[in-house]
Amino acid sequence: MVGVSAAAALAVAPSVAGAKPAGTDTPVTAKVSLTVNGQRRELELDLRTSLLDAAREHLHLTGSKKGCDHGQCGACTMIVDGRRINACLTLAVMHQGSEITTIEGLGQPENLHPMQAAFIKHDGYQCGYCTPGQICSGVAVLDEIKAGIPSHVTADLNAPMQVTEAEIRERMSGNICRCGAYSNIVEAMTEVAGRKA
Ligand code: FES
Ligand code: FES
Repeated sequence: MVGVSAAAALAVAPSVAGAKPAGTDTPVTAKVSLTVNGQRRELELDLRTSLLDAAREHLHLTGSKKGCDHGQCGACTMIVDGRRINACLTLAVMHQGSEITTIEGLGQPENLHPMQAAFIKHDGYQCGYCTPGQICSGVAVLDEIKAGIPSHVTADLNAPMQVTEAEIRERMSGNICRCGAYSNIVEAMTEVAGRKA
């Protein structure tokens, strides 16, 4: 997962729409254009707005959850330009032009993504609060393995990458489930990986 400090983000912020007089509390805003779940969205945001708050508070996409707001739980995981990311740890203005997928963009109740269907089949949740982040992370993890990106537990960097339980548990370790649905999440991801193979 990727995390960037607010100070670093402000240094690369795109065109600032509002000038901030020195020594005042006037918010500084910027226009940002994002493609969210296939739709182009134009926003004008306070530079300090996280990607998670942009989605939840400005686009009313509340599927991504705010668990800790500190990069520690993974409940806010979104897929940004093909990579999973903790949306609470990144500023929206850093993602000008990015393609963002939230849980709402993966599937719909009448047309579930295979990972959503597998979570239901294997009881990969209890309260469900961590689940949108788990599912977005799970989808991206299988893509990472398919792309040959190694993890801390990958023993042989030259061998074809396998979707093992150890790989899944290691790669999903940033997604915390207080209900302890981990074993069932591994089963769900293993099934989807098998389908994909
Ligand atoms: S809310 Fe982002 S990691 Fe917990
Ligand atoms: S299902 Fe409750 S926290 Fe994961």
